[in-house]
Amino acid sequence: MAKDFDLMEDSNRSANPDIHSISALERRQLLQASLGALAQQFFRWSPVALAAGATVACASMPGKGPVLGFDGISASTADRVNVPDGYNAQILEPWGEAVGVPGNMPAWLPDGSNTAADQAVQMGMHHDGMHFYPLDGADHGLLVMNHEYVDDGLLHTDGLKTWSAEKVRKSQASHGISIIEVERQNGQAWRMVRPSKWARRLTATTPFALGGPAAGHAMMRTADDPQGTTVLGTFNNCAAGKTPWGTYLSGEENFRFYFAGGNGPFTEHQKRWGLNKGAFFGWPAHDKRFDSTLHPNEFNRFGWVVEVDPMDPTSTPIKRTAMGRAAHEGAWVAVTQDGRAVVYSGEDARFEYIYKFVSRDKIAPAGNGLTQAQANRTLLDNGVLYVARFDADGTGRWLPLVHGTGPLTTANGFADQGEVVIKARQASDALGGTKMDRPEWMAINPATREVFCTLTNNSARGVGDNPGVDAANPRTKNAMGQIIRWQETGDFDAIAMRWSHLVLAGDPANDRSEAKGNVKGDIFGCPDGLMLDDRGVLWIQTDAHSSEMNKGEFKNIGNNQMLACDLNTGEIRRFLTGPVNCEITGCSLTPDGRTLFINVQHPGESPSDRSDPAQPNKFSSWPQNQFGGVGNRPRSSTVAIRRNDGGLIGT
Ligand code: FEO
Ligand code: CA
Ligand code: CA
Ligand code: CA
Repeated sequence: MAKDFDLMEDSNRSANPDIHSISALERRQLLQASLGALAQQFFRWSPVALAAGATVACASMPGKGPVLGFDGISASTADRVNVPDGYNAQILEPWGEAVGVPGNMPAWLPDGSNTAADQAVQMGMHHDGMHFYPLDGADHGLLVMNHEYVDDGLLHTDGLKTWSAEKVRKSQASHGISIIEVERQNGQAWRMVRPSKWARRLTATTPFALGGPAAGHAMMRTADDPQGTTVLGTFNNCAAGKTPWGTYLSGEENFRFYFAGGNGPFTEHQKRWGLNKGAFFGWPAHDKRFDSTLHPNEFNRFGWVVEVDPMDPTSTPIKRTAMGRAAHEGAWVAVTQDGRAVVYSGEDARFEYIYKFVSRDKIAPAGNGLTQAQANRTLLDNGVLYVARFDADGTGRWLPLVHGTGPLTTANGFADQGEVVIKARQASDALGGTKMDRPEWMAINPATREVFCTLTNNSARGVGDNPGVDAANPRTKNAMGQIIRWQETGDFDAIAMRWSHLVLAGDPANDRSEAKGNVKGDIFGCPDGLMLDDRGVLWIQTDAHSSEMNKGEFKNIGNNQMLACDLNTGEIRRFLTGPVNCEITGCSLTPDGRTLFINVQHPGESPSDRSDPAQPNKFSSWPQNQFGGVGNRPRSSTVAIRRNDGGLIGT
């Protein structure tokens, strides 16, 4: 979700260091530092970057074209997708299209009257993180994507007049993950291949296995699952990573909105994880496992990174608990020189943390009749989880979440490693991780061992008794967000790093200094999606909420959008603008660099997050108004973008 919920994302009350622990002079210097100065500083202490020359070399790579070769486009408030001259955009697989399960492909009904059973084999709502998995070449593959949450006002014919068991089932079926087959034949447009043997939906009721130290743990056992080894469903899946062994990693983000804690009293654990009295979605009344007064441990079974093998339609997806429990935005994989996996992730919640996990074992090759995904079925179950601390001098440390070390002892409430990962927030509080401004997506440069992370915003920074600014999160009432980057000192498994800001988002025309930013190029706010392409271009997608877009400090910024950053110069240029009240997300390039898939999430989102079914197109009629189609309910959709001449995207 985009919204910086006033009551919902401020549960970290630990006393970890903030900017008040550094000097006033340092604080001023940090706040005043320009992008250029920070960039120079970064590269001065960046011998790996200079030695590898990776970002510098991109501009002159033969056949790769200029780093940013397109004409930037204007900010827009139009209800359409705009792309630069010379590019075209095509809509693919909007919400409700049948995914292509053989023999079960119900048509989308534009009045919201599809049943829950229909929805369970149709594209979910609110498309989000996504990756392309080639089958043969760059023009045929699988698209795997998350459906983060739903607008119940659009999902049901009469919206949310009442909740019913059928509506809960339909809501659950429109969450989760879709796997679909897509192709582009003979230079034609992209299309879904239906039926497809790979077509699959994973929803809020699909069985998931548990792997890692929380599997079978007492805190994971429920009445329906006394062994604590199988969980029904995944939901609020936000961003996604693609592993080198061919699987899909999806983050379970704002899981707490689905549970009802009633009148309590709440345990300290429930409070720290933000359990509310009531659920935002009306599931607890009709699916009792979401009533935390009856089934308190079900709450612990969400907030994990889940791993899916899209190439094996019969495989059971797995929740990987070794990477810790969090309001996970997503998970992104790097590889050490000796072949171990390092998975970076963050928790998109105010004042929560950035993590990395280093696998114990090396990534196994395919062989002995196993695909590489199958050969690595337990890779992410063993390793060390770390939380990041960003120090004021530009260095940082990775602090291990290992039971029995430091404060993570039985006496302090961590009985074993399972309890450490289930209570990763409390463990990170105890270790002194840095409380961040809502970490969203990450992008990794394997050549320079740099990692970029969007910190989307944090309107509560420095407000009331909330934590004040610190070096990494330098603005009070941070409405605009920033992109932080760090470089490991050595290999990806290093415990030390150097960090700086790539950019503070904002509009220099704003009155408030904290909302001006230092963008060199086209302005934006609330960075969320990130992708680093093979040419060294960092693609940035934005997610300002519909309640704040195009007014106040956002009045010049336009609808949510996508921009490209030339990391050599720091220039940021606007590439795409989305329809009214959408979020732009889900960034994936085909391996030839010639098709860019993005997702338009919740066009026409109501400022209240729930549309009125009597006037569903009050804010937006997209995609029907731009690409045709029936009905007037706006639909989240994938958009395939190509150059008219078939050239490399961005050149
Ligand atoms: Fe689902 Fe943090 O955006
Ligand atoms: Ca959104
Ligand atoms: Ca967001
Ligand atoms: Ca996001």
